[in-house]
Amino acid sequence: MDDGRTTTGSALGKTTPPRADFTIDQDWAAYSPEDHAIWRTLFKRQEAILRDRACREFVDGLVGLGVAADGIPDFKKLNAVLDATTGWTIVAVPGLVPDAVFFEHLANRRFPSTCFIRRADQLDYLQEPDIFHDVYGHVPMLMNPIFADYMQAYGKGGLKALGLGSLHHLARLYWYTVEFGLIRTQEGLRIYGSGIVSSKGESIYCLEDAAPNRIGFDLLRIMRTKYRIDDFQESYFVIDSFDQLFDATRPDFTPYYAALRDQPDLEPGTVLPSDSILHRGITPVP
Ligand code: PHE
Ligand code: CO
Repeated sequence: MDDGRTTTGSALGKTTPPRADFTIDQDWAAYSPEDHAIWRTLFKRQEAILRDRACREFVDGLVGLGVAADGIPDFKKLNAVLDATTGWTIVAVPGLVPDAVFFEHLANRRFPSTCFIRRADQLDYLQEPDIFHDVYGHVPMLMNPIFADYMQAYGKGGLKALGLGSLHHLARLYWYTVEFGLIRTQEGLRIYGSGIVSSKGESIYCLEDAAPNRIGFDLLRIMRTKYRIDDFQESYFVIDSFDQLFDATRPDFTPYYAALRDQPDLEPGTVLPSDSILHRGITPVP
């Protein structure tokens, strides 16, 4: 699963050319009964799995939005609620969106979402984002005021990182928080990352499997850590609160990028002596 900026597009949305900001119309009426049935299947599966695994903020957002099992949501209906709650709107995009365009949307509290839904033979894994990942995975967290501000700040930071040639560092932060983040709560470890909540296998693996590392959030350490887009993560990073995440990312990153330039990248599975380890991953003996 990637971060939503490098999709290859779909049949839906290919009929009308995108506008200058790459947005298109969702064309909700064009979804087939089969498309809606796939949404229903995915939704129901995740509902059962995420009940005790997703964080409260995600579940509250999902319920608040009225995203439901009945079928693929109409962006217009979701936007009425989302805009009134945090001032965010979903905009439909056909596929590939250049980094600058993606960040410009986020910086203006617009979330670019794909429109197409995966095929029935792709229920368990898809390397590119589809509407289930984008809407079910990302949009509920945008109902949370702190996370909503974080995503906008990330958009502004993305534009800056682009100008500084440091996007590869910033992109890792998005990956290990927005897409694959875990949070420590009073009920235990919970998921808030969109790439996890939209994946049945990884929703269980990230919390319960002994293989991956679970490491306390550390901004600069995360920005040094490479990631894989073709398999479950080898390391997850755990925040204590969304305030922690927002506060840590508030400073100007310019000096951080300068410092990172002299530091080697870390492999995804690396554990450092300085890490605050919640769980050290166990490599299965072959
Ligand atoms: N504060 C960061 C900067 O100056 C921007 C940012 C905010 C990045 C939130 C990520 C998340 O670049
Ligand atoms: Co995503």
